Amino acid sequence: MAKIKGIIFDLDGVITDTAEYHYLGWQKLADEEGLEFDRKFNEKFRGVSRMKCLDMLLEENNRKVTAKEREELAERKNNYYQKYLENITKDNLLEGIEKILNTVKNNGYKMAIASASKNTEIVVKKLNIREMFDTISDGYSVKNTKPAPDLFLHTAEKLNLKPEECVVFEDAKAGIDAALAANMTAVGIGPEERVGHAHFRFDSVKDIELEKILSE
Ligand code: BG6
Ligand code: MG
Repeated sequence: MAKIKGIIFDLDGVITDTAEYHYLGWQKLADEEGLEFDRKFNEKFRGVSRMKCLDMLLEENNRKVTAKEREELAERKNNYYQKYLENITKDNLLEGIEKILNTVKNNGYKMAIASASKNTEIVVKKLNIREMFDTISDGYSVKNTKPAPDLFLHTAEKLNLKPEECVVFEDAKAGIDAALAANMTAVGIGPEERVGHAHFRFDSVKDIELEKILSE
């Protein structure tokens, strides 16, 4: 195994619990539109781009829309999501993540965020963690979104590292698929049925045992 030199963090559900706000945004949209939607279905949206999520929601409900309506629906959901973002501060960092970020930084690893979200810069700024990272990749960085490996490969390139020198922290099935496809060490945060295919898995961020991952 190559020596690990860089750590790539997903944002929503790993650094902060904006995953909940994404859910609330979709639920509001679905209710207004009379579309069936619940928390269970929302699990499929983790790590998946906004447009893909919308298409899944519409398909599940057999709802056909025009291209213009599709744009309007996605924009409406994003407006709801951004309304929730107004209130986030450093207090919205997930329990245990600050310690991990500091440890990784103090041990000289390169650090990046790689998120499917087009709201990444807004969230990172609000959390006041921008200066910790060498680079940030987001929903604008590559065309093929997770589970394709592209976002992580693009991030490794920006860090000037080989894929096998990188560890990825992810809470999404699509994110673990992407990290494995990129030939990186994958660390899953969440239940077995969601991220059990990662190299390491922890129930939540506060349970992460960094020494275990980095001593491999
Ligand atoms: C991911 C979330 O980080 O970003 C997904 O896990 C979300 O649930 C995706 O759909 C896209 O986010 P945004 O902010 O571009 O709508
Ligand atoms: Mg996530």
